[in-house]
Amino acid sequence: MRVIAIDDDFDAWRAAALDALAQGLAPESVDWRTSQAAPALFGDTAAHAASADAPQIRVSRELAALLKDAAHFRDARRWSFLYRVLWRWARGDRAAASPADEDGARLYKMAKAVRRAQHDMIAYVRFRQRDASLGAPEYVAWYEPDHDVLAWGAEHFAARMGRSTWLIATPDGAAMFDGERLQLERRRALASEHASQHPDTPDAAEALWMTYYRSIFNPARLNESALEQHMPVRFWKGLPEGALIPQLVSDARGGARRVAQAPRVGALGGKAVQVEANEAQPERDAPTSLDTCRRCDLWRNATQAVGGAGPADARIMLLGEQPGDQEDLKGEPFVGPAGQLLDGAMQRAGVPREQVYLTNAVKHFKWEPRGKRRLHKTPAQQEVEACSYWLDQELQRTGARVIVTLGATALSALFGRRATLSAHIGRVVPYGDRLVVATYHPSYALRQNDEAARERTVAAIVAALDQARELASK
Ligand code: URA
Repeated sequence: MRVIAIDDDFDAWRAAALDALAQGLAPESVDWRTSQAAPALFGDTAAHAASADAPQIRVSRELAALLKDAAHFRDARRWSFLYRVLWRWARGDRAAASPADEDGARLYKMAKAVRRAQHDMIAYVRFRQRDASLGAPEYVAWYEPDHDVLAWGAEHFAARMGRSTWLIATPDGAAMFDGERLQLERRRALASEHASQHPDTPDAAEALWMTYYRSIFNPARLNESALEQHMPVRFWKGLPEGALIPQLVSDARGGARRVAQAPRVGALGGKAVQVEANEAQPERDAPTSLDTCRRCDLWRNATQAVGGAGPADARIMLLGEQPGDQEDLKGEPFVGPAGQLLDGAMQRAGVPREQVYLTNAVKHFKWEPRGKRRLHKTPAQQEVEACSYWLDQELQRTGARVIVTLGATALSALFGRRATLSAHIGRVVPYGDRLVVATYHPSYALRQNDEAARERTVAAIVAALDQARELASK
């Protein structure tokens, strides 16, 4: 057994992995150790430099992005796992990076979890302003990320907070920005030292925000599980309003709701147990094709599965929710009324339909009977998670640089159920090495009776497509 000690970061692992491959070290003969005593700074130095004769392994863009993202997954065995994937790939075993393979599926799952953690970090870090007499940093935040995404998140904030000085402390390290340079440190002691600088006295903006939050909190309409879904409990401690919630909830339970409309919302007994949607899936064999997919039960009532359509080398992917009535009958995406509206929007944005890859987060039509009609029913997150098996494969097969998500379901297929459309519209968000532009679903425009409101929605879709075209051409 060969022990390879590296700094706990991707660059160090990659350099050491290339060396190990050059020496023909099989994955089972390598014991990957990370040195906790490594220098405090990370992100710019690697303990290992690849030796000059290390082989140049060509990996696909997709695999490179997956390895890079999965490297931030919190699991002590990740380096040996990533090495096994790389080893298999280097020996021509391309299945190692396929979601249909055991290792490939694990790799995708890890990368996906990390992307979610990145997304959460952007959404849930809250800076507090410190007393100016204390000097730099002006803003501090405490945050507990699910995975090792501090460096990524810090870069995001460094690019957006101008020259202000700030610090984000986490249980494993801290990121500091002095207005010009970003510094990352991994020392536990340092993190807790800075955590203690977390100001006890909230700043003026925060006081205003708390007053506002208190005023919009309607005890009569309290739905605790929805509240926790939108703002998971584990994030409360980092949010100023988090401190208010327990009191507001308990007031609502204790009678405050009776003075408002007093519906019996949230008064249910029992304890809610949060289960990740994809973990609630029944164990099923991997289907060999979309037609044989039984990963959820939607296939039972659908005419057929509807896969994606368009060139594999399309630079833009349009991601819808699920096939509608006509798509279900024809077996092609976006051929019904929503598709026609989308066609019009694509024309206005100068994005030819034949140059984009069109697909849906869920591949079977979910509906309920209404008279003679089949009415669209929104897929559950569990069905979206089950179907991500196919979406991951499409993402791997197609080289789209930009993904335009149409509606909330498509967005949640990439970022999880906590991602809200309102928070994403008009923003470009990275997803691995791709960019995501979120916009409304064309059916939302179709449902609007008011002509002006409908045109505003269509204009927003056109603007998103236009932006995607622009980004894809870079
Ligand atoms: N709505 C979608 O999201 N996709 C389709 O293919 C059709 C309607």
